[in-house]
Amino acid sequence: MPMLDRPRWAPKRIDLTRPSGARVYDYLLGGGCNTAADRELAKQLLEVMPQVRDTVRLNRNFLRRVVTYLVGQGVTQFLDIGSGIPSVGNVHQLAQGLDPKCRVAYVDNDPIAIAYAEPLLRDNDLATAVLADFRSPEQVLGAPAVRSLIDFDQPVAVLTLLMMHFVPDSADPARLMGRYRDALVSGSYVALSHPSFTGAEGELLADAQAVGEIVQNTMEPLHVRTADDLLRIIAGFEPVPPGVVHLPLWRPDSAADVGCHPESSLVYGVVAAKP
Ligand SMILES: C[S@@+](CC[C@H](N)C(=O)[O-])C[C@H]1O[C@@H](n2cnc3c(N)ncnc32)[C@H](O)[C@@H]1O
Repeated sequence: MPMLDRPRWAPKRIDLTRPSGARVYDYLLGGGCNTAADRELAKQLLEVMPQVRDTVRLNRNFLRRVVTYLVGQGVTQFLDIGSGIPSVGNVHQLAQGLDPKCRVAYVDNDPIAIAYAEPLLRDNDLATAVLADFRSPEQVLGAPAVRSLIDFDQPVAVLTLLMMHFVPDSADPARLMGRYRDALVSGSYVALSHPSFTGAEGELLADAQAVGEIVQNTMEPLHVRTADDLLRIIAGFEPVPPGVVHLPLWRPDSAADVGCHPESSLVYGVVAAKP
């Protein structure tokens, strides 16, 4: 991937001097689709809280376990909203590696995330990337590329990993999620990962709050939520065991996945089924 500081193709309307969530996350994952502004913000975050880098890796490991679980449940369709800039172990690679019939529609509201996904998917008839916003369910569910790939009469897994914290309570995430839920048939799933300060105290809590402030001052507010908040957002879906837990505790493959202090990931994960 080319570095982004002098991109030939980057749309002019994108202000590359301001950090973006997608590109900061890309930098933290070791990717090359980020600018000096993104790297500067990421470095500030890492200075305050070096484990931010572990957290994003834990999230990608959670993604891998979730996709493996869902394909094991017979799910072959994925709507990955807030999919981010393609990285290692993307949903279509994971899912189609397990079952080549899997169909994957990526959705992100950052044009750069979609521009980077398009060449990767050019030769893949069963995957697409769409520029749309979670907060406009009609735009996402009605997008021609989504409708022509995903059969909503069959089970679909909606993934929103590390995305919902960008959606404020004023946008009513539970109502929005309800709109997606209503479009899905029984046997469908939702998967979510979401920052939470629950269980954090002392230095860990102070560091986490400092990270929140840096993000808010340079980019946009980061909305942390409790497990109960997440259950409210996914109302109408039934969480599969182990329910809402810190990322390393969600169906770990080994003791090494869990580590010593899973709660210090400060991110919850949950997968839930539509009955
Ligand atoms: C931290 S990245 C997570 C990427 C990927 N889901 C993962 O977990 O590895 C968050 C992504 O959500 C996207 N995003 C934020 N708000 C969104 C919204 N309202 N609709 C669609 N995408 C959104 C950002 O552009 C970014 O690419």
